Amino acid sequence: MKDPATLRILHQGRYNAAPLVFAAPGRVNLIGEHTDYAEGFVMPAAIDFATLAAISPRTDGQVVLYAENFAEERSYPADALPTAATGHWSDYPLGVLSILAGEGYRIPPLSLSLWGDVPLGSGLSSSASVEVATATALLGLLGATIPGPLLARLCQRAENEFVGANCGIMDQFISANGKADHALLLDCRDLSYLLAPIPHDVALVIANTMVKHSIAGAGYTTRRAEVEEACAILATHRPEIKFLRDATVEYLDEIPTNSLKRARHVITENLRTVAAADALLHGDLAELGRLMHQAHISYSQDFEGSCPEADTMVDLAQNLPGLIGARLTGGGFGGCTINLVEKRHAAAFSATLKQRYHQATGIEPEIHICHASAGAHPIA
Ligand code: GLA
Repeated sequence: MKDPATLRILHQGRYNAAPLVFAAPGRVNLIGEHTDYAEGFVMPAAIDFATLAAISPRTDGQVVLYAENFAEERSYPADALPTAATGHWSDYPLGVLSILAGEGYRIPPLSLSLWGDVPLGSGLSSSASVEVATATALLGLLGATIPGPLLARLCQRAENEFVGANCGIMDQFISANGKADHALLLDCRDLSYLLAPIPHDVALVIANTMVKHSIAGAGYTTRRAEVEEACAILATHRPEIKFLRDATVEYLDEIPTNSLKRARHVITENLRTVAAADALLHGDLAELGRLMHQAHISYSQDFEGSCPEADTMVDLAQNLPGLIGARLTGGGFGGCTINLVEKRHAAAFSATLKQRYHQATGIEPEIHICHASAGAHPIA
């Protein structure tokens, strides 16, 4: 589909009403993994895969949700919306409606059509893009606005409290606040951020290992618990430490082995992420690439958040012409690698990486040359 005009026509055909249309993107994280829920730093960019949402009012008292990707419709009385998740795609839009209702927003009878091309289960934040698209569409219908950082927090709450996935703030934040041609350095403690331009001659090459990623899965949940355990250990005799954001590497010998490695990843990743933003702002791409490489090693060896296929994808990229830096992106245990590549080499880089990965693993990967894109916005 890709074309919002097609969703507009589809919605009009199904619901006999001209909709408002909105887009909210997926994301790729350049650096800063499993640091968001430790109140640390992340540096994602929104990408040109998105969820589109078309919305219009109804007069029959119903909230009707339609997902074009699943060709499926669900309908509920607007004054008695479900209050619990059922493990269905509708959990994401319903979660957002539920959180916004809890914040005092009126949920009027409405038709909402969703369509997206963020690959599912690939660590590119398809869920966040559905949540932010839904919230933006509802606010558009109500003629209301919420500042981007707060909107992100409410969508994160939809995922934490309704869907039941214990994610941090990163994905919803970049989907709501991203800017075209920029990466965003976010301080997850106070949600302050700065935008760093991505040079025009640099491409974001996203390589999908085709190993499914899930933040509801055991890997993400276990690692998050380990990070929180490391923090709790430090906090017993250093009450000023509320999150690992507050710790430095000097404290690491106070933590037992497993949590120590997880904590070392988080603490050093925060330093790398701030340094990476600085390198990007100063046009020092070699340093940015070096930090991304260090970040992958730390993610793989200390955090043990990678998988053999992602390590292979990163290794195979190393000596290809044009590579600036490569690492596994997102929640881990599968999903995609992000490769910063000189644009003039991007097509050849992608073709060779694809062929090498297939040869090494027997898996046919999907490789996308993406652009840093705008956060959630209306489509005229
Ligand atoms: C997932 C979560 C984010 C973040 C990353 C890891 O994408 O949704 O909040 O924790 O994993 O950096």
